[in-house]
Amino acid sequence: MMIPLSETSIRQAINSHDLGALNCHIFSSIDSTNRYLKELATSNAIEICCAETQTLGRGRFGRSWYSPFGENIYFSLRAPIFCDLSKLAGLSLVISLAVLKALKNIGINHAIDIKWPNDLLWMGRKLSGSLIELIPNTSSAQLVIGVGLNVNSVTENAPLLDKPWCSLYDISKRYFDRNVLIAELIIQINQYLHQFLAQGFSTFIPEWQQHDYLYERSITVSQPTGRITGKAMGINDAGQLILVNEQGGTHYLSSGDTSLQAFLPK
Ligand code: BTN
Repeated sequence: MMIPLSETSIRQAINSHDLGALNCHIFSSIDSTNRYLKELATSNAIEICCAETQTLGRGRFGRSWYSPFGENIYFSLRAPIFCDLSKLAGLSLVISLAVLKALKNIGINHAIDIKWPNDLLWMGRKLSGSLIELIPNTSSAQLVIGVGLNVNSVTENAPLLDKPWCSLYDISKRYFDRNVLIAELIIQINQYLHQFLAQGFSTFIPEWQQHDYLYERSITVSQPTGRITGKAMGINDAGQLILVNEQGGTHYLSSGDTSLQAFLPK
């Protein structure tokens, strides 16, 4: 049986964690939870938005995000941000680590990898992705962190998407109450964001290295300026991907879409 999204259940699960002011916006259907928070009047509170379905769920690189009704988590969190925006390099990696920590806290102990910069994968299949957007503002900038997490979809019965994907159900053969998981996402994203803003990216490197899907793999990174091919050699202090090409030259990449060479379209 599907348990509907409920603000009361989310707040109950957040329980004694003090997150300061938190406003919840829960919809049965919405175009995109990120879009909603980007257009919501500025506030100093944490704003979260989730919906049973999205009609225009957006992924990175203008892709769409599959959002079937009642099955999965389509979630965005907005927080005001007062630091120098140049300090945000590495943020998307930190958010992936926060999502992974939330999964561990609800009992997912399976081997989940992170594909730089922010896809969570299980057995090479995509479990979760995040889309981070920044709204510059005269007073403080607002950060919108959108997370799509496949929870209760049974992919055997679901449509094939452009890339192989999976859900927590596929991994554990259990259905999850999404409210508990959303509460855990709010707690962990808040916690990881605070640590990141206070201490910078480098404190997260050991955690990243435990889950680095691309490490020592031959990959191709697509960027607006073209494709770069080489071997992924981890990340540097700023969260950039270290890519060594065949001539031994090193590239440090800040963004881009990665694919393993074997899976490159011809
Ligand atoms: C990606 O992997 O390309 C990022 C996917 C992000 C999807 C989430 S679902 C909730 C939020 N609202 C959106 O429109 N997108 C993000």
